[in-house]
Amino acid sequence: MSNSASQKKERTLAEPFRIKMVEPLKMTTEAYREEKLKEAGYNTFLLQAEDVYVDFLTDSGTGAMSDTQWAGMMLGDESYAGAKSWNKLEKVVKDLTSMPYVLPTHQGRAAERILYGILGGTGKVFISNTHFDTTRANIEFTGATAIDIVEEHDENDHENMSFRGNIDLIKLVQLIEKCGPENVAAVIMTVTNNSSGGQPVSMANMKSAREICNRYGLLMVIDGCRIAENSYFVKHKEPGYGRHTCKSIAQEMLALGDAFIMSAKKDGMVNMGGLLTLRDEELSRKCINMLIISEGFTTYGGLSGRDMEALAIGLVEVFDEGYLHYRIKSTAFLGEGLKAKGIPVVWPIGGHAVYIDAGKLFPNIPVDQYPGHVLACALYTKGGIRCVEVGSVMFGKHDKDGKLIPAKRELVRLAIPRRVYTQSHIEYVLDVFDDILEMQNETKGYKIVYEPPFLRHFTARFEQL
Ligand code: F0G
Repeated sequence: MSNSASQKKERTLAEPFRIKMVEPLKMTTEAYREEKLKEAGYNTFLLQAEDVYVDFLTDSGTGAMSDTQWAGMMLGDESYAGAKSWNKLEKVVKDLTSMPYVLPTHQGRAAERILYGILGGTGKVFISNTHFDTTRANIEFTGATAIDIVEEHDENDHENMSFRGNIDLIKLVQLIEKCGPENVAAVIMTVTNNSSGGQPVSMANMKSAREICNRYGLLMVIDGCRIAENSYFVKHKEPGYGRHTCKSIAQEMLALGDAFIMSAKKDGMVNMGGLLTLRDEELSRKCINMLIISEGFTTYGGLSGRDMEALAIGLVEVFDEGYLHYRIKSTAFLGEGLKAKGIPVVWPIGGHAVYIDAGKLFPNIPVDQYPGHVLACALYTKGGIRCVEVGSVMFGKHDKDGKLIPAKRELVRLAIPRRVYTQSHIEYVLDVFDDILEMQNETKGYKIVYEPPFLRHFTARFEQL
């Protein structure tokens, strides 16, 4: 809520919603959580969700639906073909994307499997500001190569703070020339750029990427599961957009793409769902074939009628300016609060998550004792907070002598579910960090005692050193 001009102190960031139904949370003690974490092999993925107080593991599929969405669920038309709910969803998506072909899928990676399965193959190259993990996996699975070229900045370069999710346009041209445009299957713009700290992409960057794609005759895909959050950043940080609505900014950006992939579990404001939309008829025919073989008929794909109703409503609600203001400010409040306490955070704060540099927070813990993992475990035992390590547990590899090749940085992501936690929960999380700061001279980390061959962070087990 805005202040009147005469007041100086900023008011508390109050939720633009009130609560109609509550989900009770189990209140646990530190001793209880220590026991549970030990039982889970010190892997927070293996905890029972009911033993978690604030779950910041992901913002994907973890949001709360509105009363209007729940009411919409009752209107779900479950007809196999031509359901009313499908017509509603298709209309909303076409209005947003201006793309004529809309394919509903059960989640984002199903859309990725369909599109990249068709575009990919051995010898093909995909270039992106940053491929999300499942995007990369779906591309590499076809034998193609995925290359990330996010624009790099010096962390202390405060001049160019605003759009750190941008693709490096110079490298883009160089790479296309080097690989040969005939081998480049697509340029993928991820907005916001999840794996680079949830940082936004500017309209100017998107337009330039479009021009480069036009010059070389390349397909531009927008991976836009956080397109509404990105639009808020464009409105408030990019010159010339202050008077535009976030929805019109999203429309302008999506109009630049040839294809749009959306995990609806984020800005779709639903717990499950995905979309693939296309401009080209021939490509859409191929994708529709794969949709029917692997997901479902064209008018429901991987979704039930009630899911399509909820998504059609969610895609409208997410562009509510009051909601988006609250959403981005709430994430920033957490990030700025942590920074003020002296916690090293990735700066500036992105849209859906705050990233903490645990390597800097725990300088005495060597990378092969996993400082990010130390923080993730401590946040759970101290405060019942669950988050995800994005460092050497997730991305570390071993050399031939079994020595750890560490990740670039030892980060921890606190991803914030939409409309789930209140400002008091965020303040509680900030309080828990006071206990974390007391552990800064900690010297002991963890060792891995079991790990599977792939994606070890999900099921690895650890022991405290
Ligand atoms: N693209 C991006 C940018 C994503 O962040 C995700 C999921 C996907 C694609 C895949 O979508 O999960 O519906 O299949 N991100 C989640 C996360 C898992 O925690 O960041 P999905």
